[in-house]
Amino acid sequence: MQPDWDQRYRQGDTPWDKGRASPALIAWLQENHGRMTGSVLIPGCGTGHDVRAIATAEPTSFPVGIDISRTAIEACRQNKVRGNERYEEENLFSLPKTLFGTCDWLWEHTCFCAIDPKERLAYVSAVATSLKPEGLLLGIFYLNPRTSDNEANNGPPHGTTLQELKSLFLTDDLFSLIEIMVPRGCYPEREGREQLLLLRRTKNPVIS
Ligand SMILES: C[S@@+](CC[C@H](N)C(=O)[O-])C[C@H]1O[C@@H](n2cnc3c(N)ncnc32)[C@H](O)[C@@H]1O
Repeated sequence: MQPDWDQRYRQGDTPWDKGRASPALIAWLQENHGRMTGSVLIPGCGTGHDVRAIATAEPTSFPVGIDISRTAIEACRQNKVRGNERYEEENLFSLPKTLFGTCDWLWEHTCFCAIDPKERLAYVSAVATSLKPEGLLLGIFYLNPRTSDNEANNGPPHGTTLQELKSLFLTDDLFSLIEIMVPRGCYPEREGREQLLLLRRTKNPVIS
């Protein structure tokens, strides 16, 4: 069963929220200054740390954070506005048409690993739908699933493998893989368990 995300935020039961942006994103933005420009979609943005980091590092970008939780989006809006950031309460699986084919970039961080693994093809279709042709997806992917003996109930719930990621994103040439990187930074408990992928949307996705 999927979590009631809004209830988790209302109750303050958000162990994934580290109170700061993804260290991998911060490092990438520093090393690639001027690259993440145009419209940037951040699905499952939570309380918006990554959105604020992008808006601050790249003042010419237009980052849009979306989340299914109204409480999370309200928390995002309570912060001082950075650059061109904005937030919308939206479900990634039923994006408004205004987000179809309009994004130059998409930043993925703990949205993919939070959704039910049965929805992964729908996830790939949704993110492809949001991107412009040739649009870029930069994502930090959590490879090792939580197990009862390797950590308490505070990590991303669903792991993946590089093989699964390649199968999901590269099948039918929907995306091409540009780079697989070891992230330059990570939260302490995720060391060695994440990979940073840069993918380019290569052709029109089927929009149902
Ligand atoms: C594990 S949390 C990560 C939040 C944020 N990326 C962070 O690292 O703090 C997953 C987020 O995805 C959001 N989410 C789950 N399903 C979603 C969907 N279908 N559409 C949009 N957001 C969704 C949840 O509300 C939650 O904020």
